[in-house]
Amino acid sequence: MLGPTLLRASRNKRLRDVIERNPLTRKVVTRFVAGQDQDAVLAVVHRLHSRGMTTTLDFLGEDVSDLAGARRVRDQYLSLLYRLHEAGDAERSEVSVKLSAVGQSIPKDGHEIALEHAHQIAVAAAAVGCRMTLDMEDHTTVDSTLAIGHELRQQFPLTGNVLQANLRRTAGDLAHLAGSGARVRLVKGAYREPESVAYQRKNEVDHAYRQGLHQLMASSCYPMVATHDPAMIREASDTAQRCGKGLGDWEIQMLYGISAGLQAQLVRSGHALRIYIPYGTDWYGYFMRRLAERPANVAFFLRALARG
Ligand code: FDA
Repeated sequence: MLGPTLLRASRNKRLRDVIERNPLTRKVVTRFVAGQDQDAVLAVVHRLHSRGMTTTLDFLGEDVSDLAGARRVRDQYLSLLYRLHEAGDAERSEVSVKLSAVGQSIPKDGHEIALEHAHQIAVAAAAVGCRMTLDMEDHTTVDSTLAIGHELRQQFPLTGNVLQANLRRTAGDLAHLAGSGARVRLVKGAYREPESVAYQRKNEVDHAYRQGLHQLMASSCYPMVATHDPAMIREASDTAQRCGKGLGDWEIQMLYGISAGLQAQLVRSGHALRIYIPYGTDWYGYFMRRLAERPANVAFFLRALARG
């Protein structure tokens, strides 16, 4: 029950203002968000690279509805890419871009604006040897996001797309991508969706995730298995072996601040592990989705507030 309520709250602007203004809340947020600016995130990136991991960076923000705001997000990615290159960390990194932050939510011509901005980021990423994946947001954005991924791959074949196991359409989308050789990140899905388009029960989503893993491993795509669920990671390893994929032919991805013990263990056992690192000041939507995924996080959050 708590999860859907928190997901509804993640789009509530009044609650967002209250939580963002509270300094105690901001302290708790640092468990999931690497920092507010590029200096902070670059330090984290460097540390994780030295521990044998790779990274993907998300400049926090979503649902930007004006052109000036979308351009600011694009510019942030452009300067981040330059700084990653200067620091010698670009080739082990990737940028994760939410298209709603670079124009997709603008009512007039949003799709075209997002494509143009994503293309500019892809040019800069390719110039410094960095990769790019388009995050997937709620189900209303899937067609546009897949189309932009497809378009960008004509020039930048390493552009990745994300597919969400909770969406009923995903098996079809995976079948469509199967022969493309695209980099595909499979996730369970973090958005509150109606029953008409999405599985609602955890066991249904887990079943769909397993099916997705089998499809992805058997395809020509590069699988990016994004989950903290040990059962899914075991299933991915077994399926990869059955499909003749070695440890370098696919990767596991996890979010910054979650399952740190498991992350270290996977690196020790020779798995390729990429950590998704969000940074920036617009952390509210991202943070609320992390709370919604796990009731224990809410207790942690409330305890921190009570301690003051
Ligand atoms: P599940 O939710 O079943 O959790 C398995 C275990 O992982 C839990 O028992 C717990 O131990 C741990 N865990 C999971 N979430 C936790 C949390 N918030 N705090 C603490 N522990 C937690 N979604 C999306 O819709 N679009 C996207 O583009 C992306 N991108 C993305 C990138 C990467 C690298 C990852 C890892 C995830 C995403 N997601 C996403 C989020 C994804 O859809 C999903 O909501 C979360 O990964 C949680 O699901 P799990 O697969 O971890 O399984």
